[in-house]
Amino acid sequence: MEYNFDKDTNRKETNSFKWKSLKNLYGNDNIYPMWVADMEFETSPAIRERMKRRIDEGVFGYELLSKEYFDAVKYWMSQKHSYDIESEWILYCSSGMVGLSATLQALTNEGDEILLNTPAYGNFFSTILGCGRKVLESPLKLENAMYHFDFEDMEKCVTSKTKAFLLCNPHNPVGRVWTLEELEKVLEFCEKHRLIVISDDIHFDFVFEGKHTMVGKMATGRKVQIITITSPGKSFNVAGTQVANLIIEDEDIRKKVQRKIKDMAYPFEHIFAEAVIIGAYRESNDWLDHILHYIYENKKMFANTIKEKCVPLKTILSEGTYLAWVDCTDLGLNSEELHRFWEEKCGVAVSYGEEFGKAGEQHVRINLACPRSKIIQILQQIQSAISNI
Ligand SMILES: Cc1ncc(COP(=O)(O)O)c(C=O)c1O
Repeated sequence: MEYNFDKDTNRKETNSFKWKSLKNLYGNDNIYPMWVADMEFETSPAIRERMKRRIDEGVFGYELLSKEYFDAVKYWMSQKHSYDIESEWILYCSSGMVGLSATLQALTNEGDEILLNTPAYGNFFSTILGCGRKVLESPLKLENAMYHFDFEDMEKCVTSKTKAFLLCNPHNPVGRVWTLEELEKVLEFCEKHRLIVISDDIHFDFVFEGKHTMVGKMATGRKVQIITITSPGKSFNVAGTQVANLIIEDEDIRKKVQRKIKDMAYPFEHIFAEAVIIGAYRESNDWLDHILHYIYENKKMFANTIKEKCVPLKTILSEGTYLAWVDCTDLGLNSEELHRFWEEKCGVAVSYGEEFGKAGEQHVRINLACPRSKIIQILQQIQSAISNI
């Protein structure tokens, strides 16, 4: 089937958070939004078709997910990610961050430290802090144009109050797809320090180089507890439908997290959960293949143009995610000037690095999941802004 990803989906006139917040957050709704991580593409026809059928039922009371829902999640984990799981291991929750919040509240105590690698997705900080836990930042290190875990630094950071390690795989914002060897070292480290591993795999379907490994399947023979956060939200552009799944093999900890999800008053499933999961995981593989191809072309074009025509900006063609992480240090601008550069001169709303922790300073994150014509236009605006500095 052919899909038209060049189509302008005209979200300006909708309730899209990405578009509607422009005025409020950037003071200007005439710039192009490349900040929030959702895509400018319509979701797959199969998902939309299933959602329409659900709407046609005409009644939207409380729901209970069927066996087909769990079978579809199992199918995707096995077929796409070589991770064989049981239905009982899957806990539905309304979003990845609700899953993280429930996990932290169920398995750690107030004041405990949660270790993560920075730069890191901004809501990790707010969710951890919102749960009364502390964030322990260990910066990734940049070596040979690639980000790596800094195990020496992680060893120095960890204390008796550190209870969990929050892994982002693939990593938002730097786009690393961690190798098996790196993940083995992570598990070794967590086992040594008795840290629960919370693996956020929300970007796991966007892998362009290397191979994504779900750490859940590496637990055998290790004394380490693993909670994996997954969702069709990023992969199929359905973040607004409130569907995510935690995968927890260990029964005791699963029950604790499940209890917490219930205590947090999120006991019922969203009316679209089943339509989305079955439509995505059973019927949209072809759509995903096409979108991956389209996005990879966007990513290559962006990285090459930045390298060839937008010096002194620097970026790396990342292995995973549809996000580009751009180093602006050599522009020599302070934070306020940098905002002006991107918004006023380049005409684009980006995510500023500070949001990702101290390690993100002088960087911006740019979302490339949009029609290619927009990227071409923004790249031209960036070139012209640089030549006018
Ligand atoms: C790494 C990561 N985790 C979680 C989320 C949010 O997921 P959800 O909307 O399901 O809470 C995002 C969204 O950008 C993300 O990048």
